[in-house]
Amino acid sequence: MSEAALLQVVGVGRDYDRGAVRALGRVTFSAGAGQTLALTGPSGCGKSTLLSLIGLLDRPDRGHIEVLGLDLATIRSAHAFRAGRVGFVFQFHHMVASMTLQENVEAPMLALGVPRAERRSRAAQLLDAMGLGPRAGFLPSHVSGGERQRAAVARALVNRPALVLADEPTGNLDSRNGQCVIELLVAHARQHQALVLIATHNPEIAAAMDARIELRDGERV
Ligand SMILES: Nc1ncnc2c1ncn2[C@@H]1O[C@H](COP(=O)(O)OP(=O)(O)OP(=O)(O)O)[C@@H](O)[C@H]1O
Ligand SMILES: [Mg+2]
Repeated sequence: MSEAALLQVVGVGRDYDRGAVRALGRVTFSAGAGQTLALTGPSGCGKSTLLSLIGLLDRPDRGHIEVLGLDLATIRSAHAFRAGRVGFVFQFHHMVASMTLQENVEAPMLALGVPRAERRSRAAQLLDAMGLGPRAGFLPSHVSGGERQRAAVARALVNRPALVLADEPTGNLDSRNGQCVIELLVAHARQHQALVLIATHNPEIAAAMDARIELRDGERV
């Protein structure tokens, strides 16, 4: 295995319903820092399953995964592992409805003990950079879908994670807003030498990534 790889996925599989559904067979690949990677394939091929295993939202039935040299099987606290290392972006934003965009973006920094003044300024800067400065004090329900999703990207990136897992991050957006979200994710990979993995059905987005992992029925093609 290459030492430079930020992510190593080796023979990873996952079965659901006590083995009745083989969501992932044995998937192997590795990827390095600063890279953008598309995860493609038809609905049900295992993209979300694979992302959830890499982000420690779930555990594999076969194989192993290393992130930044850490074997995920040895990690007891998934929460502690993710904090500061992994950023998630989903198709639907999952913002906390009762908190403003600013508060939503500040929230991940609480887990890392970032002081309040720094939380405020970092969240405000990132929202500004995403063109959301004037919306920072609004609740998620009071801004547009594209603005909400950009704020969700800000929240995922605010701790400068080395690994970003995005599951259909543009699935719910028009092409202009979708393009904007992808540009933000690519810029993060380049600026912070992060690995950005994007599951997508959109061929243009897949083509814009550095590399592509294509799945069919839980296996690479
Ligand atoms: N919690 C679950 N319980 C049982 N089966 C599941 C579960 N989650 C996913 N599956 C099954 O595992 C397979 C892979 O699903 P997965 O969600 O990973 O696909 P996907 O590639 O993300 O699809 P889509 O493009 O529609 O999001 C599918 O057959 C799905 O029905
Ligand atoms: Mg999916």
